[in-house]
Amino acid sequence: MLLTLAEQHQVLFFGGKGGVGKTTLAAVTALSQARAGRRVLLVSTDPAHNLGHLWDRQVGPQRVRLAAGLDGLELDPELTVQQHLDEVGAALRKLMPAHLAGEVDKHMALSRDAPGMHEAALLERIAETLIDGLHEYDLVVFDTAPSGHTARLMALPEMMAAWTEGLLQRHERQSRFGAILRNFGQDDSLGESLIGGDRGEGEQTREQRVRQILDRRRERFALLREIIGDSRRCAFVAVLAAERLPVLETIELQQKLERSGIDVAGLVVNKRSPADAGAFLAERHAVEEQHLTTLREALPTLALQQLPLLAGDVVGEAALDAFAERLRQPWGG
Ligand SMILES: Nc1ncnc2c1ncn2[C@@H]1O[C@H](COP(=O)(O)OP(=O)(O)OP(=O)(O)O)[C@@H](O)[C@H]1O
Ligand SMILES: [Mg+2]
Repeated sequence: MLLTLAEQHQVLFFGGKGGVGKTTLAAVTALSQARAGRRVLLVSTDPAHNLGHLWDRQVGPQRVRLAAGLDGLELDPELTVQQHLDEVGAALRKLMPAHLAGEVDKHMALSRDAPGMHEAALLERIAETLIDGLHEYDLVVFDTAPSGHTARLMALPEMMAAWTEGLLQRHERQSRFGAILRNFGQDDSLGESLIGGDRGEGEQTREQRVRQILDRRRERFALLREIIGDSRRCAFVAVLAAERLPVLETIELQQKLERSGIDVAGLVVNKRSPADAGAFLAERHAVEEQHLTTLREALPTLALQQLPLLAGDVVGEAALDAFAERLRQPWGG
């Protein structure tokens, strides 16, 4: 199921609770597609930085070659916020009159720790990475942070597009307001201080620049929304363990994503205990079956793949290749 999804899509998102195997499965899938001759970009959006550990090498915000046909990068949350603040700050400085530049700086310094800032910044980078990535790669695979975060992130493009739209409209209203005041033939400086404009040509070019910046942002978010909402191009894979909480959280995650207009394309139940390796694991296997029944009842139409608990950790290319082989074998129903 997982390999078929990968073959049929240009973008894959792996989400799920902490420690269930998102990074491992994202890497295994990405590597298997690269082995099949596709150009693949593997992106970690998880602040915990796991690709490096998995590949046993340094992976950072710049792309590195992980294997033939496979590049990887980890979005750095701190750097991402800094870049985002720099960009937004530059845009705001263009929007505001020069004497308010100090205020803009103060505002940006406060924004660094504002709620939602990390997510907004991360989303901006995800949009950029995805849109640029699709020009150069056949498949872009995202390894995301644990569940709640991912669902919020998926809902964001809509919010960000609406926010940018609001800013554009406000900007237009203010410009019109300024023009009306000036047409009154009153003291020009009143209109200026309200709209914070230079007069004449300078103001026009500045307005055009602001419009360009806001338009570009809006287009970027709209495009991101279009791509992740298009189930022919993009698939969301929920990874879980056959345990009580991961099952409940996966059901919740599916509902949250559905509310954001995103379908979960498949479920991967990882680390299944074997039924034939002693009484203890057989008992675990039976308990897992009960949790899977709950899952199937809640999400009866979703494709589901199970993968066995392995004896060792999955680290390095050889281990990933071996795991990819298991993806081809139907296991446990
Ligand atoms: N099928 C498996 N059998 C045994 N170990 C596994 C299996 N799948 C993954 N692991 C191991 O489980 C650990 C967690 O996996 P991984 O890092 O992929 O999870 P994650 O969902 O990305 O975690 P996080 O939420 O912390 O990012 C790793 O040590 C990995 O090697
Ligand atoms: Mg991970």
